[in-house]
Amino acid sequence: MSSVIQVVPLTSNVGARIEGVDLHADVDADDIEQIRRALWHYSVLVFAGQRLDAGEHSRLTSFFGSLAPLEIFTFLGNSNPGLAIDPRKGGTVSSDGKSGRPVGFEKPPAVKASADALHPVSEFAGWHTDSSFTRRLPQAAALRAEVIPPVGGDTTFSSLCAAYEALSPTMQGWLQGIQALHVVPPGYKNAIKIWQYGEDAEARFDAEYQPREHPVVIEHPETGRKALFVNPGYTHRIVGMTDRESASMLRFLYDHITQPEFVYRHHWSEPGDVVVWDELVCLHRAPNDFRPHERRLVRLTAGQVAPNPPTRQSTMIG
Ligand SMILES: [Fe+2]
Repeated sequence: MSSVIQVVPLTSNVGARIEGVDLHADVDADDIEQIRRALWHYSVLVFAGQRLDAGEHSRLTSFFGSLAPLEIFTFLGNSNPGLAIDPRKGGTVSSDGKSGRPVGFEKPPAVKASADALHPVSEFAGWHTDSSFTRRLPQAAALRAEVIPPVGGDTTFSSLCAAYEALSPTMQGWLQGIQALHVVPPGYKNAIKIWQYGEDAEARFDAEYQPREHPVVIEHPETGRKALFVNPGYTHRIVGMTDRESASMLRFLYDHITQPEFVYRHHWSEPGDVVVWDELVCLHRAPNDFRPHERRLVRLTAGQVAPNPPTRQSTMIG
């Protein structure tokens, strides 16, 4: 029998809390569909107060697609859909997504560690879409809190749909049809510990992940809503503009998409809380404001989706 799920909006533009569903038990198909639709509509869902374990986290994430790692990890031969985010472990460590325990093949780097490796961060501290230089992104990502610091450690999300919809029709029209180049930023390969994947891993990675063009305006495959698709973490330039024009346009867009009106800031209350977000149409960041305290989150990813340009009229889920 279906539960009575309540979808409680957290702001006007992004984020909702899901209540009235017991995630320790089986959830029926109608309820799963309601939760999926809520994610496509609100972009960020908060499941709080149920103290979910690693297996329940995994099952919840699978509501939104088959568990799968980021494209780069699949390419490198790592099929684990989970990542433990813990600055004490040098940033991120693969997790098997079931037990929550780190997995992988730890060994010391064969090359001298760079400054980035010596000063690891927890999550990327700047606004970004995970690895937007790849062909496909996860349909959804889900963070579960394991250790919450006594101060700071929030995770923030910004709605790229709401940001697009707040632009003037003139600007919306102008941005449609242009492309931006997304690149692997400095420090990225150290952050993922690419040396773990074999001696030829860096060369293979460099050959595969050349700068990639994506549309600046994309369409959500489930809702048809349009969204901006640029982020300060990986977008390098606007194609077809001079350096000055591109830098000015990106500065404007970054300022626009990170306005507080489009942002939900999640404060982690207790271990086992889970926050799911729609990777395609959300930026996220984790302010680095909790040191020297411990903070540990586990991220699972599910499904794959490409950032495609608009092909249809926008339709909103009611
Ligand atoms: Fe991230």
